[in-house]
Amino acid sequence: MSNKLLINKNIVLGVTGSIAAYKSADLVRRLREAGAEVRVVMTKAACEFITPLTLQTLSGQPVAIELLDADQESAMGHIKLARWADWILIAPASADLIARLVHGRTNDLLSALCLASESPLAIAPAMNNKMWENKATQENVEILTARGVQILGPASGGQACGEQGEGRLLEPTNIVQELARLVVPGKLQTKKVVITAGPTYEHLDPVRYIGNKSSGKMGFAVAKAAREAGAEVILISGPVHLTTPAGVQRIDVESAQQMYDAVMESLGSSNIFIACAAVADYRPKQVEDSKIKKSQHDQLQLNLTSTVDILSAVVNQENKPFTVGFAAETERVIDYAQDKLHRKNLDMIAANKVGKGIGFEVDENALHVFWPQGSQKLPLASKTQLARNLMTLIIEQYYAKNSTQNS
Ligand code: PMT
Repeated sequence: MSNKLLINKNIVLGVTGSIAAYKSADLVRRLREAGAEVRVVMTKAACEFITPLTLQTLSGQPVAIELLDADQESAMGHIKLARWADWILIAPASADLIARLVHGRTNDLLSALCLASESPLAIAPAMNNKMWENKATQENVEILTARGVQILGPASGGQACGEQGEGRLLEPTNIVQELARLVVPGKLQTKKVVITAGPTYEHLDPVRYIGNKSSGKMGFAVAKAAREAGAEVILISGPVHLTTPAGVQRIDVESAQQMYDAVMESLGSSNIFIACAAVADYRPKQVEDSKIKKSQHDQLQLNLTSTVDILSAVVNQENKPFTVGFAAETERVIDYAQDKLHRKNLDMIAANKVGKGIGFEVDENALHVFWPQGSQKLPLASKTQLARNLMTLIIEQYYAKNSTQNS
């Protein structure tokens, strides 16, 4: 990527009261280096941590603080700033600011500006790890995400208060990169991507099911990466406890059959299908209407039958999309993945080793990706980053295939 990732972009940078506010000086510099025009808005609490003069000098523009400021209103008042901004970035975003955004408060310039603006909003939270983990903050973040606000970070590590954990402000270079990813039009604009994620539950009776350990993290990260690339994304998910990535349409299902039905309904005019779900291969042949009683059996034998193979059904569609499967293997990962790629006639397969503490549930993963003409290893990384790297490969191969077909 070029250094001028944000060329000609008008960014309002909101700075709130956090010890991490000192990093906003570096952030202003890096945003300008990336080509952005920056106007800084500070809360009063932010001014306790860093002086407006510092940010004014670095941004080359007056810093706005007061909501009711005669000079500011005649120059660049909150409504004018709201219209001027291509993006509003709040970094650091304190727990209090996040709560105020949720409730649409207008008791200072920054929150009033956010309420008055139709521009997209990205926030980089920074706070003590207990404050970040608190249900109140987590629910607030969930609400903002559902409204389309982009959450950048936070990072984890040592904190100013001496504790360790999640809640650190992302480094300014990372914030600029993340913002650029959102601002620059993605390569999948106008494309539709359907993704499956999470486990399926196959019921034995009203209270028991056969399931697996998939958390949905990998599939949700893939959905986020596809959305960042500009695609319309439909995410069909088994039962998980995850927040839907901003801008993604989510359909919740339980069983393999329900996932199949949702995929078939969503598939029309899609360009790419990515099967990341850990779909049960078998389901009980019969689902009991009432709870199976322990006293009835010394031994219980389950009579299982195959579930529908969703991936194969997609490949067999007349206008099949570019189809990407996953392979979760405990051994001979490469052999089994290559076999699945050819046997199922896929365009690409992403293989991962799974086992205790690997692949399923954890936050990091590694993939070995195969397609008919090549392969690439994607080393261990956070599932968010890994999904972006996978999406880069998918985009390359999707366009390579389509240019061949059209030539
Ligand atoms: O959710 P996480 O905790 O983050 O874990 C991520 C993951 C390990 C679940 C993920 O990376 C992964 O590997 N997903 C695929 C798991 C799987 O079911 O693999 P498989 O080798 O059994 O299936 C092969 C492919 O066929 C998969 O694309 C699967 O979605 C698809 N399939 C399988 C059975 C079926 N009935 N229908 C299908 O579409």
